Amino acid sequence: FVAVFDFGAQYGQLIARRVRDLHVYSEIVPCDISADELAAMAPSAIILSGGPASVYAEGAPDMDARVFELGIPILGFCYGEQIMAVKLGGEVAHTDKGEYGPATLTRLGSSVLLDGTPEGGQTVWMSHRDSVSRAPEDFMVTGRTDTCPVAVMECPRRRLFATQFHPEVRHSEYGTRMLENFLFGVCHLEKSWTMEGIIDQKVEEIRQQVGSRKVILALSGGVDSSVVAALVHRAIGDQLTCVFVNHGMLRKGEPEMVEEVFREQFHMPLVHVHAEERYAKMLAGVTDPEKKRRLIGTEFWKVFFDEAQKIGDVEMLAQGTIYPDIIESGARKTGGKAATIKSHHNLIPFPEGVHFDLIEPLDHFFKDEVRELGIALGLPAKMVWRQPFPGPGLAIRIIGEVTPEKLAILKDADAIVREELDAYNQRLFEETGDRNSEHACWQYFAVLPDIRSVGVMGDERTYRRPIIVRAVESTDAMTADWAKLPYDVIGRISSRIVDEVDGVNRVVYDVTPKPPATIEWE
Ligand code: XMP
Repeated sequence: FVAVFDFGAQYGQLIARRVRDLHVYSEIVPCDISADELAAMAPSAIILSGGPASVYAEGAPDMDARVFELGIPILGFCYGEQIMAVKLGGEVAHTDKGEYGPATLTRLGSSVLLDGTPEGGQTVWMSHRDSVSRAPEDFMVTGRTDTCPVAVMECPRRRLFATQFHPEVRHSEYGTRMLENFLFGVCHLEKSWTMEGIIDQKVEEIRQQVGSRKVILALSGGVDSSVVAALVHRAIGDQLTCVFVNHGMLRKGEPEMVEEVFREQFHMPLVHVHAEERYAKMLAGVTDPEKKRRLIGTEFWKVFFDEAQKIGDVEMLAQGTIYPDIIESGARKTGGKAATIKSHHNLIPFPEGVHFDLIEPLDHFFKDEVRELGIALGLPAKMVWRQPFPGPGLAIRIIGEVTPEKLAILKDADAIVREELDAYNQRLFEETGDRNSEHACWQYFAVLPDIRSVGVMGDERTYRRPIIVRAVESTDAMTADWAKLPYDVIGRISSRIVDEVDGVNRVVYDVTPKPPATIEWE
């Protein structure tokens, strides 16, 4: 496998994903892992990521210089190039002005890393302030840009390579070729990370881990829990029971889709808990967003564990933790120190005295891989490509008290927003061939505020509710921008909502990025 050293700000994640896209397994390791620990993991190659710090700055992320003595091929990008230079006796200088964005790379002589890329200029993506001013002894400088004298350096004898730019970024025209040159030309790695291979391996692992025990899973209909369900079911069949807690605040058509896919298509043991009334009573009169969240979350697990009790003798709980959850929660499995950004959001509040062994078969998969796995396991595309949906559901998209009347309005309006923007995304996908195309809407839904406004329909004055349409572009929900939808798309959403949804006489579009707003309204 390829060990990716992460020098901060999660630069490593994109690199690990690019390597896996080339069908080679890669894993992120903390940058300060010792050479001995690393040697014990026996990676076939190492990639050093970029990072926001300056190598000479106090407290800058550091690495064990003995890693360079292990004889493992190493490729460094940006900060990775700079730290390689410094550790091996070269020099890094603070350039007068940083360089951000596209630059033209000129090749200097023959190069292992740049093999098969143009001799003349090629576009590479830069994002740095410091840069290497003198390569270490033994290294050849094989590329430069106007502002960067050592844009590429290599020492083929020791199999050490580095670039100042970011080959992992799509804007670097021949970045993929450079990665291929390193992975296959230098390291002779095999393309063994393929979905078929992965499924076989995971199925075997799950069988080993579970044995004859019973497993339970909280199925939400979301991507991660659905893929875990399909995967674990492939491995152990009816030893798995899925519990679907229907709290009544799911989107229109969602409970039906869960039934259709899991009961009818997969023939899985599925417990559909109708908790709609229980939740409606519990939420009556509650207006505070955090109180809604707390009540819904606590009740969810109470209902779930009651069901587990009824099934009896369940010893294991499967859950859809994915790789970014692990990395973000402090690299639990890799035992590392990646900065803790947010606590593990999948932590389950087990009741007193209750214990389950956890099984988390997706804990080393990126989201895109989870979707690919879902398709390979036979889940429908509409389920695998679903947008994120918050656990508390529509309750946090109804401002103020949740009532049956408001829920009915929101469900209908939201279905229209989704239908129109699903189609918009599909058109973009057909035009660009990219599901994650920059302007695709990442999350889109309707919000129902707790106000009414005056309107006119026919000859009659109306006093009804408005619907807020929220649609954002984002990659990770940490930041987001409002989607620049074509006017005709917004117009159609608006007229359909006022025509088709009873009780609504106005539609507005939220044009606020995050920050300062959040994606959700509560
Ligand atoms: P915000 O509104 O904070 O949302 O910009 C960021 C992302 O998180 C989702 N979200 C939640 N997910 N439980 C969840 O499981 C919650 O309480 C919750 N609140 C927000 C939101 O949909 C967006 O994708």
